Amino acid sequence: MRLTVIGTGYLGAVHAACMAGVGHDVLGVDVDAEKITSLAEGRPPFYEPGFEDVLTQALATGRLRFSTSLRDAAVHGEVHFICVGTPQQAGSQAADLRYVDAVVDGLAPHLPASCLVVGKSTVPVGTTDRLATRIAGLAPVGVRAEVAWNPEFLREGFAVEDTLRPDRLVAGVTSPEADETLRQVYAPMLEAGVPYISTDPNTAELVKVAANSFLATKISFINAMAEVCDAAGADVVTLADALGHDPRIGRRFLNAGLGFGGGCLPKDIRAFSARAQELGVGPAVDFLAQVDEINQRQRTRTVALARQMAGGDLTGRRVTVLGATFKPNSDDVRDSPALAVATALHRQGADVRVHDPQGAANAQRAHSELRCTSDLLTACEGAEIVLHLTEWDQYCEVDPAKLARVVREPVLVDGRNALLHDKWRAAGWTVKALGRPTSSARPSDAKAGQHLRATIASQVADPDRAAAMTPAQPTSGA
Ligand code: UDX
Repeated sequence: MRLTVIGTGYLGAVHAACMAGVGHDVLGVDVDAEKITSLAEGRPPFYEPGFEDVLTQALATGRLRFSTSLRDAAVHGEVHFICVGTPQQAGSQAADLRYVDAVVDGLAPHLPASCLVVGKSTVPVGTTDRLATRIAGLAPVGVRAEVAWNPEFLREGFAVEDTLRPDRLVAGVTSPEADETLRQVYAPMLEAGVPYISTDPNTAELVKVAANSFLATKISFINAMAEVCDAAGADVVTLADALGHDPRIGRRFLNAGLGFGGGCLPKDIRAFSARAQELGVGPAVDFLAQVDEINQRQRTRTVALARQMAGGDLTGRRVTVLGATFKPNSDDVRDSPALAVATALHRQGADVRVHDPQGAANAQRAHSELRCTSDLLTACEGAEIVLHLTEWDQYCEVDPAKLARVVREPVLVDGRNALLHDKWRAAGWTVKALGRPTSSARPSDAKAGQHLRATIASQVADPDRAAAMTPAQPTSGA
């Protein structure tokens, strides 16, 4: 099929390459000429595991091309996927739909024949209806340019895997023809047994924000428990393990620590609240404000823990932050909890160095006041406190004895509960973490890091199997 994919960020670029990979004839479109040139030459403009291979293979088939022209897109596609960003509006909690609207306004006047415009971006419920009216008014083919919504659930770091083998496909359609078209687009996935849920556009739009709200709530729930554990002298990792054995609860997304960030979860729960208020059902999702508050508090609490480790004053203290991205296996620093902590430490007078294996350049661009590097030993030289804030494998694998020889004081704050605390303590480190007992290590200390690494490895191969791992190895979200 002739597809266009408009917006070539983490979502669109991966979708375009994967769709070409499964046999479609794809045109990727973006307003950013530099990005388009880079993609056309097989150079990913961002770090995403496995993407470079998929991109170069798709380009080699001749079925994947790129353009900056929406006119080209209108002429090329029988199906047009909208994959542009829907960030938070400045000065409001609501989603900013200007990029989605700009695509529609640029594309519709050139649509020469019947086609299906399919939104994948996360949008407020009701957007499909609004865009359908807008397109019908602008397109020469009128209502024969139909609109559907097909939300995307991919996780950064697993974008290729999630695109080729999604948990489920959700199609919000208004006609049997639109449904059939989407079934044809995803035929290889449907043949492989991926569940396909066909519904109306409003439900499809809501599925996405409801899913992200649930995930955010799960993370904030365990972080709220971490606060209680701190007050009660209990261990949140053991608590999460024990809760996770109940299949109704599950262990994934119960990793207590610095909380969630990134380009999706934080802004999606806020936009959902804003939309619910517009619909007159604000109180139904009032709890999301608390989810947000609990999440923000983890950042403040982590800074307070570091200050406490510094004896109450961070002025002039050498602090090293391990991790700049909002999660491992990504170079994305949007709303990164790690960077929020790093900048707060800087504001309190600390001399902060930030290390990240992939995100150092993006972090440096966003925060010139910090010193960012991808060299771990350089970052840690002379540190008085090391904060582990993004759980890259590299940090789990580091030799704490070797690192102890580089720092000035072997003091560690594990903001992700992912390191083997026993091992670090045995190498001479003082280790602190939110929601963990301050006394000597508990049995779960030794297991926490292993769990996380086992989970990440197994989710790459098979997320479903990871969810059903044996009780000895509860799983968690990556
Ligand atoms: C999320 C959704 O998972 C995905 O389905 C949707 O399409 C886009 O938004 P993503 O933003 O890639 O994906 O990140 P995700 O893996 O969900 O993690 C979000 C944040 O939560 C990260 O900062 C992560 O560190 C944090 N997190 C995750 C926790 O703090 N604890 C956990 O147990 C899991």
